[in-house]
Amino acid sequence: MQAISASHVRTSIKIVSTLNESYHPSNEQQQPLSSGKIKRLVLSQEGRTKFNMYPDREFYGYPRFVTHVDDAFIATLTNLYRERLRPDSEVLDLMSSWVSHLPSDVKYKRVVGHGLNAQELSKNPRLDLFLVKDLNQDQRFQFESFTFDAVLCTVSVQYLQQPEKVFEEVFRLLKPGGVFIVSFSNRMFYEKAISAWREGSGYSRVQLVVQYFQSVEGFTEPEVIRKLPNAQENLSPIGWIMTLFGLPSGSDPFYAVIAYRNFKPIHHD
Ligand SMILES: C[S@@+](CC[C@H](N)C(=O)[O-])C[C@H]1O[C@@H](n2cnc3c(N)ncnc32)[C@H](O)[C@@H]1O
Repeated sequence: MQAISASHVRTSIKIVSTLNESYHPSNEQQQPLSSGKIKRLVLSQEGRTKFNMYPDREFYGYPRFVTHVDDAFIATLTNLYRERLRPDSEVLDLMSSWVSHLPSDVKYKRVVGHGLNAQELSKNPRLDLFLVKDLNQDQRFQFESFTFDAVLCTVSVQYLQQPEKVFEEVFRLLKPGGVFIVSFSNRMFYEKAISAWREGSGYSRVQLVVQYFQSVEGFTEPEVIRKLPNAQENLSPIGWIMTLFGLPSGSDPFYAVIAYRNFKPIHHD
C-alpha cells in the first residue's frame, strides 16, 4: 500500500486513511493506480424496474416549483452541508431542481447543477452552471476526473436504475478526499422509483445506498445519519402533544449516507 504524501494534498488537511493511489493536484493527467471500479452489481434486473417505463425526461418535462420534503428535513440537510462542505469547494448537485438546500450565507467556489428540467435549474439561485442529462440513459459526464470537492444527491437516488455506474462516475469526478452526500426520506414519485426502493423500508433503503457506495472500490466506509421524527428528542412541543393523542407527530424522516473518495480529510481551521 502506498501512502499519499502530504505534499500531494492541500496543506490544510490531514489524511486519515488512504488507498493505493497517487494524486497530484498540479498534474491531473496522473490517474489513480487502483480504485473507482465497480466490484459487483447491487441490483437485479427486476430491482431496477419502474412502473412508469416512459422516458424520465417526459415525466420531468414540466417544472415543479415545490419542495419535495418538509422544512425540518431541509434544515437538517442545510446544517449537514454547512458542516461538511468547505466554502472553497466546487460542488456538483446531481438530480437537482430550483433549490439546492445549501446554506444561503456560504459562497462556494462553484456550484454545478444537474437534472432533467432546464426551467427548474435555470431558477436555482445557487447554480453557476447547469446541465440536463438523463442518468438512466447515460451515466458519464463531460467533466475531467478530480473536478469536484463535493457531490450531492438529494431525495432522488430512488430514481436511479444504474446506481452502480452513477456512483462509479461520481467517484471519478471527485477529488481524493472529496465527499458524496446522498440524502433521502420516505417520499417518492412511486411510479418512477425503482422496484428495489419501492418495496423497501427506511432501514433497507439505507442499506441499499450503503451497498451502492460499497459496490465501487475506493469509497470510504459509508457513514449513516438518521433523524427520525418519532425520536423523542426531535419532537417539537406540538409534536409532543400530537403523540399524546396518538396522532402522527413528526416531520419527514431524514437519512443521509456519506462517503469520501479514498480518505476522509480532517480540516484544521
Ligand atoms: C424529487 S426531485 C428532487 C430535486 C432536488 N434534488 C431537490 O432536493 O428538490 C427528483 C429530481 O430527480 C431528477 N431526476 C429524476 N430522474 C432522473 C434521471 N433519470 N436523470 C437525471 N435526473 C433525474 C429530476 O430532475 C428531479 O429534479
